[in-house]
Amino acid sequence: MSEVVVRHAAGTYPVLVEPGLLARFDRLVAEHLPGRRVVAIADETVEQLRRGGRLGAVPWEGETLTFPAGERSKTRETWSRLTDELLRRGYGRDSGIVAFGGGVAGDLAGFVAATYLRGVPYVQAPTTLLAMLDASVGGKTGVDTAEGKNLVGAFHPPAAVLADPLVLAALPERAYRAGLAEAVKHGLIADREYFEWMEREADRLLRRDAAALAHLVHRSVEIKASVVSEDEREGGRRAILNAGHTVAHALERATDYRIPHGEAVGLGLLAECALAASIGVVQPEVGARVAALLATLGLPTRLEEAIAPERLLAAMESDKKNRGGAVRFALPHGLGTAGSGPDWTTPADEAAIRAALRALS
Ligand SMILES: NC(=O)c1ccc[n+]([C@@H]2O[C@H](COP(=O)([O-])OP(=O)(O)OC[C@H]3O[C@@H](n4cnc5c(N)ncnc54)[C@H](O)[C@@H]3O)[C@@H](O)[C@H]2O)c1
Ligand SMILES: [Zn+2]
Repeated sequence: MSEVVVRHAAGTYPVLVEPGLLARFDRLVAEHLPGRRVVAIADETVEQLRRGGRLGAVPWEGETLTFPAGERSKTRETWSRLTDELLRRGYGRDSGIVAFGGGVAGDLAGFVAATYLRGVPYVQAPTTLLAMLDASVGGKTGVDTAEGKNLVGAFHPPAAVLADPLVLAALPERAYRAGLAEAVKHGLIADREYFEWMEREADRLLRRDAAALAHLVHRSVEIKASVVSEDEREGGRRAILNAGHTVAHALERATDYRIPHGEAVGLGLLAECALAASIGVVQPEVGARVAALLATLGLPTRLEEAIAPERLLAAMESDKKNRGGAVRFALPHGLGTAGSGPDWTTPADEAAIRAALRALS
């Protein structure tokens, strides 16, 4: 088993990575939420897979609340239905929550935990690759609104993260590959050697080789943990984790979430590499390496449907990460190197953004 420790001012928690870990699901949840009445919050698909034994044995005798799978459930409406249901069932201040599923379950159940009776502790049990190596770590929770992604939320670090790569066997191919895009991001912004390992081991990763997967999850979690430990609330270095995301969030919104988050991140990295190259902060070769790796990993490097640049620009402009009116980007500065402080992100004007978006058509 590997254990990565995340250090937040609000609390220190372990991320446990081990094939077969969830065979001890009930005991581990009790251990990290001692003495609490724990309820699981899962999406319907994941709960059905669990009951059908498709995730291996994941023992759970407690209550489970579910919501329809998918990004469109990550809303205040679902949040209010879940919190009302907890109140109706009499969950009190001694309750605990386990977020069981992908990044949507993690963000949504995490936000329920952050707000229910002014906050109760919770455990993350991520079941998608994307949630395992990225979303479950860092303590960001929240929901989307009509104006954009993750616009209402809270920082609420979990008591523990339980990552079992074996449950990924059930993940549909497209969802599995989407998760790899966040790992490419981690390599690009923080660790050239890791990026090059993915280039060499792409075949094993695509076959979901157990040892390769365990290393992938471990290394990505280590990178994310080290960045968020330094900077809990995104005033500083944490912003580098948003690489690719200014464009990614705009793509998700402009397509009404038809593009899965991970695929949008891959495309976002390419457009933002092009932008970084045009501003002169990165060599054009870096974008070419990222495009080649994404393609090898079976991820899209071009938009399948044309999207008017105006719609993407409008979506970017309402993104919460903008300061002083300018759209800002966490640009790569080299293979394995992100920008540096005190600014961390770079503003770009409309003409430069339009030109960069052409990299996707
Ligand atoms: N909080 C953060 O720091 C952070 C970071 C990155 C992404 N996110 C968020 O994460 C979300 C995307 O997460 P996601 O890609 O996991 O999406 P998701 O949670 O919607 O899961 C994708 C699909 O996979 C299914 N699924 C989950 N586990 C499965 C399994 N083991 N086998 C088969 N099917 C399974 C789900 O039912 C769902 O249909 C986005 O909302 C994004 O904003 C948050
Ligand atoms: Zn992301």
